[in-house]
Amino acid sequence: MKIAVSGKGGAGKSTVSAQLVRCFTLHETPVFAVDADPDANLGLVLGLDPDQVGNLRPLIELQEIIEEKNFGGGTFVDLNPNVDDVLENYTLRDGSLRFLKMGAIKQGGSACYCKENSFLNAVLTTMLLDRDEAVVLDMSAGIEHLTRGTARGIKLMLVVVEPTRAGLSTALNVDRLSKDLDIEQVLFVGNKIRSEEDRAYLESSLPPERFAGMIAFSEQVLERARRGEPLVSSKDDLLPGLEKIYDSICRR
Ligand SMILES: Nc1ncnc2c1ncn2[C@@H]1O[C@H](COP(=O)(O)OP(=O)(O)OP(=O)(O)O)[C@@H](O)[C@H]1O
Ligand SMILES: [Mg+2]
Repeated sequence: MKIAVSGKGGAGKSTVSAQLVRCFTLHETPVFAVDADPDANLGLVLGLDPDQVGNLRPLIELQEIIEEKNFGGGTFVDLNPNVDDVLENYTLRDGSLRFLKMGAIKQGGSACYCKENSFLNAVLTTMLLDRDEAVVLDMSAGIEHLTRGTARGIKLMLVVVEPTRAGLSTALNVDRLSKDLDIEQVLFVGNKIRSEEDRAYLESSLPPERFAGMIAFSEQVLERARRGEPLVSSKDDLLPGLEKIYDSICRR
């Protein structure tokens, strides 16, 4: 299953991504957890070792590999270079999980970052289209790492949405961007639901059949975030509603 998770800043993308990744690992399913948000914190939410997460180099900074594989430059350009070694050497492992950081896409200015961007593209293409492992991409609302090519590999875009006007507006925007990229399926996940009013607000603002599920506001999640503790250590730590979302995703 290849899933991307997006939504407004602070909506709960990393929380939902981490919980889904843990659903996969609790079932011992091999999964790539990809921090594709430039302001990255998925590794910590997953409960990986903070030093190891800090020392892991984002792909965009692997200059020597980018040069060696001759991405997008030089006379002999390999359009589809093998990057399995990158997935081997620049990922953190924890059981059936492999964690990696993309780093911020480099844009504009006077410099051309074609090489860096084609390298990220090749790694994403490999994970999404060539490899069998599940993938969970924790993205920003901009979904800027995806191109039309890599988007073909995304089976499901999950848009995390809080019951606020601003959250809705971003969710609709991501929905539009995803459709422009021809992503097969876009579903919403309501998050931080505190009341029936919250639920009704979302269901009256977005098509109810397009919700993968709703997640209640949880004091426990917030408390763990305050203490910097991992979210999921065992099955009991999964948020109510999460397993239902996971099951419905896996059935699709
Ligand atoms: N269901 C929930 N109940 C309570 N708190 C939650 C819930 N979901 C997320 N949070 C809290 O909300 C904050 C933002 O969540 P998270 O980091 O997952 O969002 P994000 O969309 O990844 O944010 P960013 O845009 O900064 O990457 C965190 O402190 C998190 O613990
Ligand atoms: Mg995040």
